[in-house]
Amino acid sequence: MEVSWNMDAAMKNGFPHYMLKEIHEQPEALKNTILPRLAKGLPDFTDDGIPDRLFADCGRVHIIACGTAMHAGMVARALMEPLLRIPVAVSIASEFRYEQPLVDAQTLVIVISQSGETIDTLAAMRLAQSLGSPALAVVNVKGSTIARESDYVLYTHAGPEIAVASTKAYSVQLAALYMIGCRMAMVRGKLDQSGAKAFMGDLLDAVPAMEAMIQKKDQVRNLVTHLINAPDAFFIGRGLDYAFSLEGALKLKEISYIHSEAYAAGELKHGTIALISDRVPVIAIATQDKIFAKTVSNVREVRARGAFVILLAKESARVEEDIADIQIRIPDLADQFTVFPIAAVLQLIAYYASVGKNLDVDQPRNLAKSVTVE
Ligand code: G6P
Repeated sequence: MEVSWNMDAAMKNGFPHYMLKEIHEQPEALKNTILPRLAKGLPDFTDDGIPDRLFADCGRVHIIACGTAMHAGMVARALMEPLLRIPVAVSIASEFRYEQPLVDAQTLVIVISQSGETIDTLAAMRLAQSLGSPALAVVNVKGSTIARESDYVLYTHAGPEIAVASTKAYSVQLAALYMIGCRMAMVRGKLDQSGAKAFMGDLLDAVPAMEAMIQKKDQVRNLVTHLINAPDAFFIGRGLDYAFSLEGALKLKEISYIHSEAYAAGELKHGTIALISDRVPVIAIATQDKIFAKTVSNVREVRARGAFVILLAKESARVEEDIADIQIRIPDLADQFTVFPIAAVLQLIAYYASVGKNLDVDQPRNLAKSVTVE
């Protein structure tokens, strides 16, 4: 008997593409990243060798990364600054390294990289270190250059990510950054024990919420018919929702080649709304209770100009049925944690758009998984 053995198919574990497999692996990857660092319900980095004084001593935080990792940093900034009440900046690594940056020994530099080999991120980290900043690296690949050269490393446990478009590496980066934010808030007296426990409980609740959205993937598959023939698509949101939308737009453009951009919803009126016309797809993210009504009013503005609106909101959000052409509801979570189910939806939108256009999902043109040249 002859058995044909297809290594590629075997490694995809029954999924048609690595990207879809990796989207499905996220709940497990999140648990692998979070659970070993929980002690009595609180984040604990003793085994990672990260001392609390690193978090206590700094006067500000500067996050440096590229691509999807930089978008994880944007979410972390929007989470950490209000929580810690210290300045938290994010830099694109390729900009930071030529900017004469104002970082010093009081600045905790957090470097984020899936591969740990991105040359701009590495060079930016070296520059920050030369200016006296301690560098904490959030890295997926063990023993990579950034992991070795950083002062401290917090490994994410996504396992190998093969698809060029990053999915599970992003969600575990977020989990690691949320845990750093929580531990810092504890150390700096911004969260007491019960507050920190509640925070970690909310983070854990986000895992099944993400899983639930992955299971509802057919809902997303059906909507991409409204996207695949569009030359442009816009993602809008405010606050954390804006930070989430940056990654949604990147995912869509990199694998579907649809020109897609993210905009802070309140900024539309200063230019971008001129591009909204009949049937232009707008993906509106409105998961933040405090600013929900504001985003909804931006949805009305684009709808009035003919946009095809896909609204992503929490299950409990009260809004009229016809506010959008399509509504996708995510499980109710505390506002700061909605990124996990939202990320799953945004990844699936990009994935099915690419599949619908018959493109090479896992290896999009002109892109590389790891960029080790400038
Ligand atoms: C490349 C990849 C992206 C990734 C970026 C940063 O552009 O295609 O998916 O986000 O590099 O990579 P890193 O390994 O540093 O996270």
